[in-house]
Amino acid sequence: MTRHPFLLVAASVVATLAIVHTAGCGATRSARSLAADKVYVAPGELDKYYGFLSGGQSGSVFVVGIPSGRLIREIPVFEQRAAYGYAMHDADARRQELLATGGAWGDTHHPVLSETDGMPNGKYLWINDLANGRLARIRLDYFETDRIVKIPNLQGAHGIAVVSPNTKYIVVNGEFEQPTDGLVTNPAPYTSVVAFVDPDSMTVKFEVRVNGNIDIADTSKDGRYSFSTIYNLEQGKNMGAMIQYDRDAVAAIDIPAAEAAVGAGKGAVRNGVPILDPAENPGVMTLIPVPKNPHGINVTPDGRYAIASGKLSPTVTIIDAHTLKIVAEPEVGLGPLHTTFDDRGNAFTSLFLDSQVVKWNIDKAVKGAPDYIVDRINVHYNIGHLQAVGGDHTHPSGDFLLALNKLSKDQYVPVGPDLPENQEIIDISGEKMKMLASFPTPPEPHDATFMAVAALKPLVHQTFTPAADAVQAGQEKIVRTGPHAVSVDMTLIRSAYTPETVEVKEGDQVTLKITNVETIRDMIHGFALPDHNLNIALAPGYTKTMTFEAGKPGVYWFYCTNFCSALHLEMRGRLIVQPKDSTVTITDWHAAANVKGVVPGVPSTGDKQ
Ligand code: CUA
Repeated sequence: MTRHPFLLVAASVVATLAIVHTAGCGATRSARSLAADKVYVAPGELDKYYGFLSGGQSGSVFVVGIPSGRLIREIPVFEQRAAYGYAMHDADARRQELLATGGAWGDTHHPVLSETDGMPNGKYLWINDLANGRLARIRLDYFETDRIVKIPNLQGAHGIAVVSPNTKYIVVNGEFEQPTDGLVTNPAPYTSVVAFVDPDSMTVKFEVRVNGNIDIADTSKDGRYSFSTIYNLEQGKNMGAMIQYDRDAVAAIDIPAAEAAVGAGKGAVRNGVPILDPAENPGVMTLIPVPKNPHGINVTPDGRYAIASGKLSPTVTIIDAHTLKIVAEPEVGLGPLHTTFDDRGNAFTSLFLDSQVVKWNIDKAVKGAPDYIVDRINVHYNIGHLQAVGGDHTHPSGDFLLALNKLSKDQYVPVGPDLPENQEIIDISGEKMKMLASFPTPPEPHDATFMAVAALKPLVHQTFTPAADAVQAGQEKIVRTGPHAVSVDMTLIRSAYTPETVEVKEGDQVTLKITNVETIRDMIHGFALPDHNLNIALAPGYTKTMTFEAGKPGVYWFYCTNFCSALHLEMRGRLIVQPKDSTVTITDWHAAANVKGVVPGVPSTGDKQ
């Protein structure tokens, strides 16, 4: 890769300016304003990149603008979230999937984007739940979680990766070993699997058995190999037993070979998934020995090398991604965890113990040149993942790098014993790295991936396309469907509920279907029902159905939780629960509405895009 001459000129100008400014008085201020200029996004302007950060123990994905570092949105995935009306009630399909697959909490680690020709296409983002062995898919047209699946035959879904260049599978690494037959009574050795998930159906097509703990994943750029770092090849069940060997390994799975073996019926089917044993299927998996307890594995944008980070060893292992031979093992610093790339042949490795990012030249390291280390920069503190914009795809942008630090220590005002996580934005456009800005987040982003706003913004929808069963304005109704069952079809539009009064009896089960019939972006309405553990938010065009018990006799004011107009406070209605033995005739809402002349909302015109 050659460097664009303009970038060289720009870099040297910046370097010159920095020297001039640091030489004179007011030096600090000038350095600060130079950095500020790079990350300042004025009110009304947009960021250049979407940053997708895993939310870790928050069970979500954080959407952060780059370079501003502003938290723009949180996408709930493995946890219910009232503010977005996500997985809040039993009829919600995502809640059902969560409860059926391990619970309404998760530990998200690695966001990966769907690809076309090695570049993100803006269709999907996948994220894993390490704890419960799950994989979730987020639709990027709506920025909403649309599928959650449990991966059979593995525990601890850790590293995940998209099979480049065209998203053939999502690779999911099982970190925690299980008895080989899946039974706790079996004293058989433990093992784990790498799962290959179909991106559209979200079903596991096949798995490959691997002895040891399978850690981080990446894939070759040509669709041939998936690479996984493996530690504990000893298959020990405690720390002492896990550190007996001199080397661990990178497992390279030959995807076409595995597909052929599965096609030939070589997999032993368990829980509906064929599992290939590499011992019985030569050529499916190659183990490449690397220093003990490796961590990250990252394939260079040009697809030439897979780079395994040493963690306990101060080295990275550079593997030829076609021949699977080790070509170099340069020292980079203490605690190397992950590596990312710019567009000029440089790699950047996070050093957990040194609290640094080290920049090194790949070609020079491969050739054994002594000056392969280009630069080092301190980060605050104990960096885990790092990601340069586009460093995980075929065309890195070469401008910004995000350091995801485990500890913030003194970087923010103290907020009790529990401090926020710290991300730092580093300018990598010049020869020397420059620290630009930092921003805190709730716990605990592990990894990030990016997409250009220019590419993704046109694909994001304005409103939801109403579902086939959406309640149409003018078609609202309250129907008694059984002796103890009432169904309500409701619409929302500024700033009224139709029907605004729902009258039922104690002991009734109420099924409420609500459609937000707004056709304007961002015109969200909420439905909060006191004392019923119910609050949902509905974006324009959205329909949600929920079932709840009528509860104790009384009057319950449901109200809108999202500010929607000057009459937002007045957007409310009543659930009237008559006592079981009440002799009062329940008012026919349709008749009452006609008498009061309630005007139904305007019909939805559907999605504007
Ligand atoms: Cu609708 Cu506030």
